[in-house]
Amino acid sequence: MSTSTPNWSKRSWRSKNLLQSPTWPDADHLGRVEQELAAKPPLVFAGEARNLRAHLATASQGQAFVLQAGDCAESFDESSADAIRDKLKVILQMSVVLTFAAGVPVVKIGRIAGQFAKPRSEDFEEIDGVRLPSFRGHNINSEEFTAEARQPDPERLLAAYHQSVSTLNLLRAFTTGGFASLNNVHKWNQEFVANSIEGKRYEVIADDIERALSFMRACGINLAADPTLQAVDFYTSHEALILPYEEALTRQDSLTGEWYDCSAHMLWIGERTRQLDGAHVEFLRGVGNPIGLKVGPTMSPDELLALCEVLNPENVPGRLTLISRMGAARINEALPGLVELTKREGRSELWTIDPMHGNTYKASNGVKTRQFEEVMLETSRFFDIHERLGTWPGGIHVELTGGNVTECLGGTTVATEADLAHNYTSICDPRLNGTQSLDLAFEVGEKLQRYDAGKGAKSL
Ligand code: PEP
Ligand code: CO
Repeated sequence: MSTSTPNWSKRSWRSKNLLQSPTWPDADHLGRVEQELAAKPPLVFAGEARNLRAHLATASQGQAFVLQAGDCAESFDESSADAIRDKLKVILQMSVVLTFAAGVPVVKIGRIAGQFAKPRSEDFEEIDGVRLPSFRGHNINSEEFTAEARQPDPERLLAAYHQSVSTLNLLRAFTTGGFASLNNVHKWNQEFVANSIEGKRYEVIADDIERALSFMRACGINLAADPTLQAVDFYTSHEALILPYEEALTRQDSLTGEWYDCSAHMLWIGERTRQLDGAHVEFLRGVGNPIGLKVGPTMSPDELLALCEVLNPENVPGRLTLISRMGAARINEALPGLVELTKREGRSELWTIDPMHGNTYKASNGVKTRQFEEVMLETSRFFDIHERLGTWPGGIHVELTGGNVTECLGGTTVATEADLAHNYTSICDPRLNGTQSLDLAFEVGEKLQRYDAGKGAKSL
C-alpha cells in the first residue's frame, strides 16, 4: 500500500495470470490508448481516497454504515444529467432512511463514474450457430450481436474515461452545490415513487426531518451556515477489471509517495478475478485506495485469510471491505464460518452484503432477473448472522437505478414475469427500481434499529 509494498510496481500485474481480459485485436493500438490515458488528469485525488478509507475505518468499528449502490454496468447510451440525478436521488433517499433508523452516518459510495467493465462466465456467445465474443461492457465492445459491435476497441477506454469525467463532474456539483442539502429532502422523492407505499413512508421521515430543521432554525441556529447540512460526501467505485486502464490512471501521491489508482475512490476485485496469484490481486495490493473483495460461496477460510493478508498486510481498518455475495440459499451455510474466522483472527475488515449477484436467474422468457424476496431474504440473513456472532453488519452493496424499471421481480411494482417486459433497460444485470430500493432500505433500517448506535447489537 505504501512506496514500500514489496516487489510491487503499477506494472507488476503484467507478469501474472490475467483472467477476464478481452482479446484485443491490435496490441499497438491498445498501447497508444494507454499512453494517452496516462497523460490525462486523474479523476479523483489521493486525499479523497484517504478520506473514504477513514470513513470505512469508522464503519469497520461499528460507528457508520456503508451504502454502495448503482448500475451493474453503466451505458454509453445513458449519460444524461437526468439519469445521473435520478440515481443520486434514490441513493440519497435510501441514505436518509438508513441514517434515521441507525443513528450512525451512512457512507455513500456509487457504482458510478467508471463502472463499465463486466466479467463474463463465457468468452463467446452463440446464437443460431453464430459464435461471437461476449459483450464485456461499453468500455470494451457493444451488446448488439454483430461481429463489428462485439470487436473489442481500445478507443472505448478513452470514451469511458471521458464519460466518467463528466459524470463525476455532475455528481460533484449535485452533492456540493445545494441539491443534496437536507432542505431538499422532499424533492428527492420522484413522482413515480411518491405515490407508492414506500414513497409515502419516506414522506413521513422527510416531514420529521423538516420539522427538526424548523425547530433548530426557531432556536436561532443558522442552518445555512452549516456545511454538513448543505452538502454530502459521495464517493465513486467500480470493479478494477481492465488493468491497462487502471494502470494508466495510477499515480504517485506527491504528499505521501504512495501509489493511488485515481480512476475512482474505491476499487473492488470481482468474484471471478480474486485468485491469490492472479493479476488483479497483484495490482490492487499495491495501491493505497480502499479496496473491496467479493466473497462468494466457493471462498475457503484459508483463501480468505491469505487474501486479507496480501491485500491488507498491516490490518489497517478501512483498507479492505469484504463484500459477501453468497445467494439467499447458501449464505447461512457459507458465511458464518468466514465471519467467525475474521473475528477470531482479529482482522479489521468490514463485512458488507451484496444480495444481488448470488440470486440471478433466467425468467421463462430468457431474461435475466432476480426475485426481490430473495434479495430481502439474503440481506436479512446477513444481519441475523452478524447479530448472532456479535459482529457489525457494515453495509449493503446493491444494483439499482433511478428509473422506473421492471428488471427485478416482486415488491409492489413488478408482480409477474410478463411485467418484466414493460421497462427492462439494463445492459447487464437486473437492477432494483426506486420503490424496491426504498423498500430494501426500510427493511435494513428495521434491522439496524436492533443495534445501539455504534455500540453493537442491543442484545449483546
Ligand atoms: C458485479 O458486482 O457487477 C459483479 C459482476 O459481481 P461478482 O464479481 O460478485 O459476480
Ligand atoms: Co452485476
